[in-house]
Amino acid sequence: MTTSKPRILTGDTPTGQLHLGHLVGSLESRVALQDEYDCYFLIANMHAYTTRADKPEGIRQSTMDIVKDWLAVGMDPERSVFVLQTEVPAIAELTWFFAMLLPFNRVMKNPTLKTEIKDKDLGDTYSFGFPMYAVGQCADILSFRPQLVPVGEDQVAHIEMCREAARRFNQVYCGVDPHAEDHEHESLGGVFPIPEAKVGRVGRLVGTDGKQKMSKSLNNAIFLTDTFKQIKKKMGQLYTGRQSLDEPGDIDNALFDYVRAFIRDEARVKELETKYAAGDNIGDGHIKVEVAEAIDQLLEPVRAKRAELDGDKGDAIVLDILRDHANKANAVAEETLARAKAAMKLDLIQRELSFPR
Ligand code: TRP
Repeated sequence: MTTSKPRILTGDTPTGQLHLGHLVGSLESRVALQDEYDCYFLIANMHAYTTRADKPEGIRQSTMDIVKDWLAVGMDPERSVFVLQTEVPAIAELTWFFAMLLPFNRVMKNPTLKTEIKDKDLGDTYSFGFPMYAVGQCADILSFRPQLVPVGEDQVAHIEMCREAARRFNQVYCGVDPHAEDHEHESLGGVFPIPEAKVGRVGRLVGTDGKQKMSKSLNNAIFLTDTFKQIKKKMGQLYTGRQSLDEPGDIDNALFDYVRAFIRDEARVKELETKYAAGDNIGDGHIKVEVAEAIDQLLEPVRAKRAELDGDKGDAIVLDILRDHANKANAVAEETLARAKAAMKLDLIQRELSFPR
């Protein structure tokens, strides 16, 4: 784990298994960036409790599932650090500090939170901790002082808030000039870099309902572990409204989002687009099967690796990684916290955490 490479931090909340939206939005780019970057991948298990405090068993299960999904897609524990959020106390401490630098109304206006309240039907009875998670996410990221945060489009508003928190901290406690450019913050003495969001190949994958973003809670997801039969069935449900083989079709519809996301042969994509637009004897059903086959090909090796990690043996592998990596994660996050506390005049005495194995 050399420190000369630029750093990445990103992560997932364990509210279920990962799906195709995660794969093309973020997982693929994580795998691709592992060589050039020092990567930290976080399981935001604390955040799962903000909406499911009464489901501890489910959160524990999802945590194990997600790490297995990560391993199956090729995120590599030899090169990258897997961070179990609840075992890195510096994150919770920094959350408090950032909470006091962000105006309450600024947090409550965060568009990602607003969308979630609507989509998940949280009404006005959500927990205090729910909006707090957005502040926590600033701390997740900044604890590791990364340059880059690879995420899906829905997370960009959170990264923007994180950038504001970092700028504010550096200005208030490190004497960084309010007019300084983002890239100058660290060289001007700021504790935190101003990290940038990096959106994956497909920023927002529409679900198999053809309408909303793919999401487990909306019941429109194709999971990384789905079989060809399941994939074909789910693709079959994607409604386009087109009636016949010779009706000119709209190549900006949800089905063609899938064609462009999953059929990797560019010439074939062009051909399908041309035929569809012209209504040249091509049915939606046929295209759906072709997309399902492409998805199946993409998932085949993932499913195989994932199957090897099923059950207790896989659990033991996951727990070994998490234990080992908690030490690496805490080494970085404790260093960040110590620097932040020194800037805040909170270095009256020093502490050192120890992690018995
Ligand atoms: N909120 C993110 C999601 O639901 C997960 C997450 C938590 C995250 N902390 C993060 C993503 C830090 C990027 C960086 O997908």
